[in-house]
Amino acid sequence: MSANTGLEGVVVADTVLSLVDGEAGRLVIRGFELRELAGACSYERALQILLAGFVDEGVLAELPARLAAARSEVFCSLQALHEDQTLRVLPPIEALRALLARLPDGDDDATALRLIAAPAVFSAAIARAHRGQAPLAPAPGLGHAADLLRMMRGEDADASEAAALETYLVTVLDHGLNASTFAARVVASTRAGLSSAVIAALSALKGPLHGGAPGPVLDMLDAIGRPELASAWIDRELASGARLMGFGHRIYRVRDPRADALRTALQSLESAGSGARAASTQARMKLAEAVERSALEALRRLKPERTLQTNVEFYTAVLLEALGFARDGFTCVFAVGRVAGWIAHAREQLRTGRLIRPQSHYVGPSPTPRQAA
Ligand code: ACO
Repeated sequence: MSANTGLEGVVVADTVLSLVDGEAGRLVIRGFELRELAGACSYERALQILLAGFVDEGVLAELPARLAAARSEVFCSLQALHEDQTLRVLPPIEALRALLARLPDGDDDATALRLIAAPAVFSAAIARAHRGQAPLAPAPGLGHAADLLRMMRGEDADASEAAALETYLVTVLDHGLNASTFAARVVASTRAGLSSAVIAALSALKGPLHGGAPGPVLDMLDAIGRPELASAWIDRELASGARLMGFGHRIYRVRDPRADALRTALQSLESAGSGARAASTQARMKLAEAVERSALEALRRLKPERTLQTNVEFYTAVLLEALGFARDGFTCVFAVGRVAGWIAHAREQLRTGRLIRPQSHYVGPSPTPRQAA
């Protein structure tokens, strides 16, 4: 027996939540194609669709107001903590994990809502703390995306920016049994509670092979600097054995449909903008498109037998930068969107799954009398 170390092709859950079709490049969330949701409905509406049947119907019907109330509740817990150096000293994703770990655990709807609200409140507070600013309270009348931008910046975002962030949050809402969602389901299967499941998931998301890639994507764009330098830089990088961040995927063998959704969001942000900010987004997009073309060409040459395509993280980096997020905080923003998927999967696991407990294949030495003595 040899181990399937990456669990490729292993099916460990039936789910009604999302379908990732890697051959066709399709993402279906609860019966909706991604393009029917991303850019077409609010984050709150997408949450209602994702969570239907997994939270109480009354909560679901009032979800926008309940989520806003949960943001305020989470903010109150933060006020007691904001003098805490944790916010300033740790990298943002680790500060987010530390703050989430202080929320009570449980399996009820109040816990679920608190956990869905918390990454937005905490991420904004962490971004502000890194700039030496005090956290800003949520505004109950705003949607989740607009409120996140406002809490982070200290002023209202314009409608096109809130819409672009909303498109991003909906795009990353759920995505089958990716590493972080699997981690959430494993922990949920032990009945440890939703907070524990979310903290495990966040820890998996942090890695550069999963949700930690967009910061390094920007580092790559900065290192390349100009479109005409992309090809030579990429060739050198691949020759040194490095991986190109924002490319390749375990499931997709064609372009990740989420990359297209985000590119479209960026294009509408670009056309709605004006002044220096719009010009710098345009320049970034031009560079990103050149890097993407060169990277795909180089990866085709390097791995002709394996289709390596642009993944969601590539345009995430450009979009979140255009929205003013600091690059070391990008993974926190990913968690703002994906937390809903983790909660939905944890709930589904509790309802329909069993304890997840695979086996390992022992390849160590056989015990001998000499070793035992
Ligand atoms: N750049 C260069 N080579 C790559 C890349 C890449 N981006 N992706 C895969 N390869 C190569 C690997 O080195 C490997 O080569 P080998 O067979 O000679 O060892 C081969 O292609 C297959 O790679 P695996 O790691 O086996 O493929 P897997 O399906 O496990 O990897 C992953 C998927 C981790 C996303 C990979 O493509 C990668 O590291 N990409 C860069 C990081 C990244 O963008 N992460 C975000 C993913 S999206 C998300 O999680 C939300």
